[in-house]
Amino acid sequence: MKAVVVYESLTGNTKLAGQLIAQELSSAGIAAVACPITEIDMQALSEAELVIVGSWTDGLVFAGQRPGRAGRLQKMPRIDGKKAAVYCTYAINMGKTLDKLSTIVSRRGGEVIGGYAIHRKDLKGDATEFVDRLLGALDTTDA
Ligand SMILES: Cc1cc2nc3c(=O)[nH]c(=O)nc-3n(C[C@H](O)[C@H](O)[C@H](O)COP(=O)(O)O)c2cc1C
Repeated sequence: MKAVVVYESLTGNTKLAGQLIAQELSSAGIAAVACPITEIDMQALSEAELVIVGSWTDGLVFAGQRPGRAGRLQKMPRIDGKKAAVYCTYAINMGKTLDKLSTIVSRRGGEVIGGYAIHRKDLKGDATEFVDRLLGALDTTDA
């Protein structure tokens, strides 16, 4: 299986998380690359069976959270027939960001099998946990 991580990042946390996720997947035998939403590797995207979409949490900290620059995500290429997963990075409270991101990715045709909120202070630990859970979900959906 091949995977691609597509991220939207303002200050770099979601980018780093995406790169860590791609590394973890590759270590687990799933060839993965990470790319920004503004420069999607179309070759990698077309070959990928698994598409992971990440964004940062934009909001008023305790209200109105949503994926940052969601307009870009809503315009991503269609991924019909591909499995998908979502993640967001956040500082304090991600609210419904993950749900909203799942909805966006579903509307682009992805079959969303999981999601994870990654705290910006533990990008490595949370990215590892996310990939572990994702690998478990893939085992289940492949069965
Ligand atoms: C304008 C703005 C609004 C934010 N709102 C929230 C918020 O409501 N809740 C939260 O937990 N973090 C919030 N954050 C923090 C970011 O989501 C967090 O730092 C994230 O990791 C940034 O990702 P990036 O480095 O990829 O841009 C906000 C950041 C910015 C710049």
